[in-house]
Amino acid sequence: MLKVAPSVIAGDQARLGEEVRAIEAAGADLVHLDVMDGHFVPNLTLGPGVVKDLRKETSLPFDCHLMLDEPARYVRAFADAGADRISVHVEVPGAAAALREVRALGRLAGLAFNPDTPAAAGDGLLALADFAVVMTVYPGFYGQAMIRQALDKVPVLRDKFWALGRDPVIQVDGGVASDNVGIVAAAGATEVVAGAAVFKAREYRAAIEALRWGGPLV
Ligand code: DX5
Ligand code: ZN
Repeated sequence: MLKVAPSVIAGDQARLGEEVRAIEAAGADLVHLDVMDGHFVPNLTLGPGVVKDLRKETSLPFDCHLMLDEPARYVRAFADAGADRISVHVEVPGAAAALREVRALGRLAGLAFNPDTPAAAGDGLLALADFAVVMTVYPGFYGQAMIRQALDKVPVLRDKFWALGRDPVIQVDGGVASDNVGIVAAAGATEVVAGAAVFKAREYRAAIEALRWGGPLV
């Protein structure tokens, strides 16, 4: 059974409070909040002020995915705003400092890998992280098609967690839908992010359930 983290980037941006309440009522495990700076990725989304106000709307854990060139500068602001988990990208030079800061603030730290970044890029950093994020799209926009080859990193990262004596927590983010979540689960993912697959579905609960069980319920 996978944990499901709907990404509110795909929800109605004018009604974010209602959207997080709706996914909570529909059985989501986490709220995935995509934070983009217009530098690391070619898009802009939300900041800590939005997270702070959304914090009042739900008791679900907040999973903030920082797609930022300088994540360490913003970790404290997102932690103070109510982030329970904060992930940063392995591709940025300040990743180690950011992971340390996340943990020092008592939050769970995630290490994210872009589709073309090898798992080995995280050697040395994975020990500072509580979970890994395998991106299966190039980050920036919801609603893209999954890059399936990127899933090859999932079992590699799982083995690296085992080698560290840890239970692997591996999130797959990008293009996850009911017709491909089976291969995501089979690769060894423990949780999935879903933007379009939840928020563009007619019924949030059915969409979340289809993802949780690794494929469409028949
Ligand atoms: C990509 C984001 C993802 C993504 C999820 O830039 O990090 O969280 O928007 O949306 P879908 O599931 O529609 O790809
Ligand atoms: Zn994300």
